[in-house]
Amino acid sequence: MLPQGCLSSASPPGFPRSVAVIGAGAAGLVAARELRREGHRVVVFERLGQIGGTWVYDRKTESDPLGLDSSREIVHSSLYESLRTNLPREVMGFLDYPFVARSGEGRDPRRFPGHREVLRYLEDFARDFDLCGMIRLETEVLRVERNHFGRWTVRFRQAALGIGAGYSEEVYDGVVVCNGHYTEPRIAVIPGIDSWPGKQMHSHSYRVPEPFLDQVVVVIGSSASAVDISRDVLEFAKEVHVASRTQVGGAPVRQPGYDNFWVHSMIARAEEDGTVIFQDGSSVRADVILHCTGYKYHFPFLETEELVTVEDNRVGPLYKHVFLPSLAPWLSFVGLPWKVVPFPLCELQSKWVAAALSGRVNLPDEDEMMEDIKASYEEIEAAGWPKRYTHNLSDCQFQYDDWLAAQCGLPPVEEWRKQMYEAVWKNKRVNPETYRDEWDDDHLVAMARVDFDGQLTLGH
Ligand SMILES: Cc1cc2nc3c(=O)[nH]c(=O)nc-3n(C[C@H](O)[C@H](O)[C@H](O)COP(=O)(O)OP(=O)(O)OC[C@H]3O[C@@H](n4cnc5c(N)ncnc54)[C@H](O)[C@@H]3O)c2cc1C
Ligand SMILES: *[C@@H]1O[C@H](CO)[C@@H](O)[C@H](O)[C@H]1NC(C)=O
Repeated sequence: MLPQGCLSSASPPGFPRSVAVIGAGAAGLVAARELRREGHRVVVFERLGQIGGTWVYDRKTESDPLGLDSSREIVHSSLYESLRTNLPREVMGFLDYPFVARSGEGRDPRRFPGHREVLRYLEDFARDFDLCGMIRLETEVLRVERNHFGRWTVRFRQAALGIGAGYSEEVYDGVVVCNGHYTEPRIAVIPGIDSWPGKQMHSHSYRVPEPFLDQVVVVIGSSASAVDISRDVLEFAKEVHVASRTQVGGAPVRQPGYDNFWVHSMIARAEEDGTVIFQDGSSVRADVILHCTGYKYHFPFLETEELVTVEDNRVGPLYKHVFLPSLAPWLSFVGLPWKVVPFPLCELQSKWVAAALSGRVNLPDEDEMMEDIKASYEEIEAAGWPKRYTHNLSDCQFQYDDWLAAQCGLPPVEEWRKQMYEAVWKNKRVNPETYRDEWDDDHLVAMARVDFDGQLTLGH
């Protein structure tokens, strides 16, 4: 790897652009495809020894099960063994590469498949679009910095070269950040926790339920993983008590069909004798507290520059969750929004980034972008939401997708996809344990099939 600093020129050279993509999960893979399709020269940096990001299940867990020790060795994926997707495959897949059931050994044809099937799908995607030649595995980006010529110096370390082999640097016109945001745990603050004698862990380090045999477990959270993990643990645990924000103030509620599964209000405090006291006054002697309390955005390779800030989990300032106005389109983020269908969203963001870098699509000027960001922050404040809701697009994800598509001159997302998402969402709320195997949106499935068949005969 040549240090290319000497090749930089004062004004960025013309199209095509050299672009570094950080991460080869779903976001980095689709970004690489779209950037290359637009004609750019792309290098994807991936810390792991294989592609797939989150979908690479890792039995290993971190040395600190709460993820607080900053010197710990990072395990990227937060998957647990039993995980099945919480979206049907028709909705979840990329727009132009349907996530259809394939036959063959080790394939999982279910509509809500197990996690290994998603990894297979991403591997198929990388193979079918011939992406592997652009990807450098076991290569960790350590720092990204603007140089004097307005280009980016990317400093990285290749594991294959061995420890102490040192670092390399290369210079790029653009950087697309696709490092994922389900690795750095966020934990709940609990008064008295320092003298509470039990064991604490974050869902990032949860893999299998067997270690919870005969334990009394308190699960904090009400997200998809809190719901899944509490049911997973129930199979072995003596009791499971969920502390949920949605159970405001009311008395604990025993879950129908169980005699050892309760939902409580949030935790008020923990005590030296092992008791956990909830806000409603109820209490349990617990062995374990499992924090299913989400994750933080974390960009350690950008820390040396004050380019973007993360404040109460708001990454800013970003125009439409993608571009830093002062440096657009040269630095971008793909995959930040949550409470969304990530693959298609990343695909549309990537198309927009690729077209902005080539100049085929124009972005507003810096002031206009800043105005837009300010207005969106004001809306969040007016709604009484905390800053950490900034990238929560639960109310407007399809509007956002369609906006991105329009920027790129593409049609809106298919109607059946939106309707199917809504149908599944409702079904999940009513039937949290069975929604993956029982549904009544067969008419939408049929519409998806017709669409997919059309695409498949067109040559994918
Ligand atoms: C428990 C769980 C369940 C989920 N279930 C679903 C689901 O059912 N359906 C769904 O659509 N989505 C689901 N998701 C969301 C999931 O995160 C997305 O599907 C998708 O994996 C996001 O892709 P990404 O590329 O943004 O991030 P990731 O998949 O996290 O990929 C980021 C990549 O960047 C690499 N990287 C990070 N830092 C560096 C660095 N410094 N240098 C080089 N490489 C680096 C990582 O090694 C990783 O490969 C789930 C997430 C979790 C945590
Ligand atoms: C996400 O935002 C919606 C409103 O848009 C809100 O109702 C919901 O509670 C938020 N979700 C989380 C987990 O913060």
